Amino acid sequence: MSARISKILLLVLMLGASSMIWAGKWSPVTADELHDPAEPGIKLLQNPGEALSKLPSDSVGNQVDWVKALEGGYINPRTNVLPETKVRVLDTEVLMKRTGEMPMVKFPHKPHTLWLDCSNCHEHLFKSKAGTSNVNMMQILTGEKCGLCHGAVAFPLTECTRCHSVPREKIR
Ligand code: HEC
Ligand code: HEC
Ligand code: HEC
Repeated sequence: MSARISKILLLVLMLGASSMIWAGKWSPVTADELHDPAEPGIKLLQNPGEALSKLPSDSVGNQVDWVKALEGGYINPRTNVLPETKVRVLDTEVLMKRTGEMPMVKFPHKPHTLWLDCSNCHEHLFKSKAGTSNVNMMQILTGEKCGLCHGAVAFPLTECTRCHSVPREKIR
């Protein structure tokens, strides 16, 4: 394993500690340390587990596979608030090849544009021309580029192979 990959794995381990807070559990509202368990209104709140356990499950993050939940029709979030907003879904994939010894990254537009607008990413995060955005893993690990969402609101960075999904032949 190269020194580069070892360094990235070490960083991910350190960051992993903070994403653990999310993992598993689905604490009831009386024990989540966010709500006051003595507050009488607490009985009116739904426990997260009651809602989330009915959705397609995942082994990481908040334990829900949100892409499957949306594509399988388990949830049907409102796409726009203002009627004039144009919803744009793009079904193309971009192969990102600057991954050193790691498998290449396949970036899928569809699962992103089902949730997001083009302007959430273009042109300030990524240029809309393949191979021009200069992304690297250190930026991602420090919360930039893909890391603005992954590890925060989308699946965590410990899941290397969900992004690095296209094997390359070993050249030595
Ligand atoms: C959210 C998606 C995502 C995840 C998760 C992810 N990577 Fe990456 N990785 C990328 C992208 C995008 C690039 C840059 C590719 C490009 O620009 O062509 C990259 C680049 C790299 C590179 C190339 C050198 C560098 O520093 O940029 C290495 C090595 C790497 N990742 C290792 C890992 C390891 C190890 C993990 C898991 C601990 C991981 N990655 C998880 C998206 C991801
Ligand atoms: C979650 C972030 C994100 C969203 C949202 C997004 N893109 Fe992209 N887009 C990317 C990334 C990453 C690349 C690859 C950039 C690179 O390789 O340097 C890309 C590349 C592109 C490209 C060039 C590659 C190709 O397939 O021709 C076009 C065109 C593009 N996007 C258009 C759009 C449009 C139109 C929308 C809205 C319908 C959109 N994108 C939404 C992240 C996003
Ligand atoms: C603006 C927020 C945002 C950015 C930036 C972003 N993503 Fe995502 N991504 C999401 C969301 C939201 C989902 C769907 C929820 C989930 O899977 O956790 C997702 C899902 C994915 C999936 C899973 C698709 C599936 O079918 O399960 C992959 C792969 C992925 N992203 C890769 C990337 C890569 C690579 C980058 C950077 C080049 C990136 N994303 C940048 C928000 C983002």
